[in-house]
Amino acid sequence: MLNKFKNIGVIGAGTMGIGIAEVAASHGHQVFLFDLNHEFANSAKQTMANRLLSRVERGKIKPEFRQQIIDNIVVISELNQLSASQLVIEAIVEKLEIKQSLFKDLEELCNENTLFASNTSSISITAIAASLNKPENMIGLHFFNPAPVMQLVEVVAGLRSSQTSLNDGVALCDFWHKTAVLAKSSPGFIVNRVARPFYGEALKILQEQVSNPQTMDALMTSAGFRMGPFTLMDLIGMDINLSVSKTVFKSMYYDARYRPSLIQSEMVSANLLGKKTGEGFYKYDGSEKPTVNYQAQHKAPKFVSLSKEKTPLYSIEQAIKSSKYFVATEHEGGPSIQVGECALYLSNGQTCNQRVESNDQKYLAQVDLMLDYKQCPIIHISFDSQCPVDTKNHIVGMFQVLNKQVLVCEDLPALIVMRTVCLLINEAGDAIENGVCNENDVDLAMQKGVNYPIGLLAWANIIGIEHVVETLDNLHQWFGDDRYRVSPWLRARA
Ligand SMILES: NC(=O)c1ccc[n+]([C@@H]2O[C@H](COP(=O)([O-])OP(=O)(O)OC[C@H]3O[C@@H](n4cnc5c(N)ncnc54)[C@H](O)[C@@H]3O)[C@@H](O)[C@H]2O)c1
Repeated sequence: MLNKFKNIGVIGAGTMGIGIAEVAASHGHQVFLFDLNHEFANSAKQTMANRLLSRVERGKIKPEFRQQIIDNIVVISELNQLSASQLVIEAIVEKLEIKQSLFKDLEELCNENTLFASNTSSISITAIAASLNKPENMIGLHFFNPAPVMQLVEVVAGLRSSQTSLNDGVALCDFWHKTAVLAKSSPGFIVNRVARPFYGEALKILQEQVSNPQTMDALMTSAGFRMGPFTLMDLIGMDINLSVSKTVFKSMYYDARYRPSLIQSEMVSANLLGKKTGEGFYKYDGSEKPTVNYQAQHKAPKFVSLSKEKTPLYSIEQAIKSSKYFVATEHEGGPSIQVGECALYLSNGQTCNQRVESNDQKYLAQVDLMLDYKQCPIIHISFDSQCPVDTKNHIVGMFQVLNKQVLVCEDLPALIVMRTVCLLINEAGDAIENGVCNENDVDLAMQKGVNYPIGLLAWANIIGIEHVVETLDNLHQWFGDDRYRVSPWLRARA
């Protein structure tokens, strides 16, 4: 790879360009870095050198390695100094016409076999390549921020990208110890498309006024995500997040699945952009975050009945069995757990009031999804409206004996985590159905690109694909919104 791509041009020395230059330089390539603003390119290189110095001081890298990276990056002032590059990666402003015009110029300057790559997050690779005489030489190499740290690169195929160009892109990522996933040029590629519901559903739930940012963030992190959606939106910046949502929505011809949030556009208008402006969903002025309303301590019941069959709440049942506190009996069929006259199930997208009617139970409670019920710090539950307060308190107390904080919400269909995760899985299913990527790559992409705790399809298999489809169908029926229609790929597998 080093021989084949000895000289690499990187255009744009902003957040992404300098990071990509560092990746290539640290693997021995000679990197030529160009930016319209020459001074800026020099200062970007200096900032990188300072950052690497602090890594040397912390013993993370050797001083010689730092020097090698610095020496391998040459800031150039003329585009024609890229004529000997075997690969040119573009990371400039996100505007189709500007990118097209740049690649048109580059094609005239460079060798006819030069590989051209764009780091665009949202523009069609097919459209950028349309400016080239040889569009087969063009691919997407979509890095994640910060490029030197993040493992994932989406290698994006435009409609006319050649297999050789794609193979070279993948081989180069391997050589750079990055995880390459193949994506078809389509709105949001894999990660920015499949992740939309992570933000979109949280915002929709907020708009429905049934939860708040701190509660939803606490639930999503308890479920296994590294950061909650509202903390993450504050970090990314409300304007950037809204702009990606709008681009995907428009590019998908206004499919309800990708509808951006009115709350978010109001926040952008008010300049509440998140951390960078000092306020978004949270305040960043040193004041304390709003608190999450956990249940007060309640007394647990002594007797609990557990299902003889293996149910989705199996690990909770196991924890009850191994706790010295409870006397656990067993029942055949029916709910996962029975406390007095109240049956507990994993949420299936119906409200408790709907489900209690169809289940021949007196009272009914539903538990929200968590990836690991043993480790999660929070249990989130809802009850049907007839369930007596004493029974509710008993169930809260039961989870508290298992060392869980308990959150009780309104009788929501699919609660919060189940609703969001099912929509994420649905989006993964549709991405596969539409040929954007394969099953393996969608799971890899979400873990390496946005740090999901497990691949979405792997999670679907834990929940049971049938259960995911049932939940989505129930949500679809409840809201009557096309946003919840089930991916045919998922339905076929249920
Ligand atoms: N920032 C991210 O998190 C992120 C992640 C993945 C992909 N991207 C994509 O990477 C690209 C760059 O994003 P960024 O965040 O690094 O932007 P940035 O604004 O930080 O940097 C862009 C740089 O390109 C230079 N530039 C603009 N037009 C130019 C031209 N015609 N020729 C040469 N240089 C030019 C600018 O002077 C600037 O220094 C965009 O396509 C973006 O969608 C960004």
